[in-house]
Amino acid sequence: MKRTKIKDILANEASDYRVNVKGWVRSFRNNQFIALNDGSCLGNIQVVIELGTDDAIVKRITTGASVSVDGTVIPSLGKGQRVEIKADNITVLGDCDTEQFPLQLKNRPSLEYLREIAHLRFRTNTFGAVFRVRHTLAYAIHKFFNDRGFVYLHTPILTASDAEGAGEMFKVTTLPFDNAPHNEDGSINFKEDFFGRATNLTVSGQLEAELGAMALSEVYTFGPTFRAENSNTARHLAEFWMIEPEVAFNDIYDNMDLAEDLLKFVIDHALKNNREDLEFLAQRLADEEKQKPTNERSDMPLIEKLEFVLNNKFERITYTEAINILIESPAYKKKKFSYDVSWGIDMQSEHERYLVEKHFKKPVIVTGYPKEIKAFYMRQNDDGKTVAAMDILAPGIGEIVGGSQREERLDKLTQRMQEMHIPADEMFWYLDTRRFGTVPHAGFGLGFERMVLFVTGMTNIRDVIPFPRTPKNAEF
Ligand code: 4AD
Ligand code: MG
Repeated sequence: MKRTKIKDILANEASDYRVNVKGWVRSFRNNQFIALNDGSCLGNIQVVIELGTDDAIVKRITTGASVSVDGTVIPSLGKGQRVEIKADNITVLGDCDTEQFPLQLKNRPSLEYLREIAHLRFRTNTFGAVFRVRHTLAYAIHKFFNDRGFVYLHTPILTASDAEGAGEMFKVTTLPFDNAPHNEDGSINFKEDFFGRATNLTVSGQLEAELGAMALSEVYTFGPTFRAENSNTARHLAEFWMIEPEVAFNDIYDNMDLAEDLLKFVIDHALKNNREDLEFLAQRLADEEKQKPTNERSDMPLIEKLEFVLNNKFERITYTEAINILIESPAYKKKKFSYDVSWGIDMQSEHERYLVEKHFKKPVIVTGYPKEIKAFYMRQNDDGKTVAAMDILAPGIGEIVGGSQREERLDKLTQRMQEMHIPADEMFWYLDTRRFGTVPHAGFGLGFERMVLFVTGMTNIRDVIPFPRTPKNAEF
């Protein structure tokens, strides 16, 4: 018999029909009631096994074991579920060594502990919900761009350029570490390396996306990016996924509209399609919040927060306004910030969170950052001091989107690259777009895991990617 997904049985009004289900045993009560989960949804189906089932089989039905069940869907006699399966045939597909199985514990395991057994944490309600929501968000992102006629461009993962100019790259080489070929000056001779030059894992697909946008007009990338920054925080990964649209003829205002529309579309899609998982995660967050001191609790439950973001326009302010708000704030006057505030600083996450969580209480788009703290490709404003950058700051997260209008004027761009010691000759291909029919254009990068954090209400970025890569950690 063909397998039916548990989700479909639970969603179906009907009963008295035969099914086969397969899944993992979450619990087994009174040698009779199995709570079975197959990951298709949060809920388990209750399987009632026939009295008189072979003892040898009953013994093997334990938490964690996988089983195949044939039976009839019937209205449930017990409380807590509408239907259940009256089993007439049960096969154990895989036994579970219960002595060793770490999810056998009666107490709810901590998220920290589950990170150590990330290969098994998919089997918990929390991670089932997180990864179903993560999937929905990825799908919604593709749908958003597809509906608007964008072309999905696969930009390279191995690259010789440093798109952000921040030098936080992982090197890629096939040269032997203990016997690398050297140049006469003692440096490594990358001409002998696989690509005949030094290469890295990409930090961003933006520069290549810009090349595509100069012909296809509207493109986006959605791929893995890598940063060798030693930031051991709840918001940073060394490997994360980024969505980067790039649009010819857009200015910074179009760029802000596009980003706001994208975030709202994706949130709306999750609320409509993952209600059960989000309600579960909302409850999880509420329980977690109860453990915190009152002044550290967030004021809004998860679903209300998502609906609030959906229904309110993002605040739009300039960097200069942001700095003034911070300097005028009670937090600053009472010396509550660990980092000082003055025009020119790269705002720390405490500053960003003050703006969104305390001052505006909604997502904020900050534009017009000092050029000194931003990348070389951002369009220079007429004041000579700022660039047409935009960061979107989200409650509980801080920066979720970073983007800009691009410098499309060849002279201004080459001058800025010179000032920032970016080798123009190696980037001839990037500069060519400014030589051959340059146009105003803009784009941004949305950190996918930060988006998943925001929507699921999880608080550590390691808990929204299946296998997190962080400093000193690349297990699994
Ligand atoms: O602000 P970033 O560095 O911007 C860029 O890379 C541009 N090239 C994007 C563009 O304009 N096309 O990164 C963009 C976003 C950040 O706002 C943040 O959400 C996320 O990527 N991000 C990270 N997420 C997890 N771990 C990290 N280490 C991250 N670094 C950036
Ligand atoms: Mg940024």
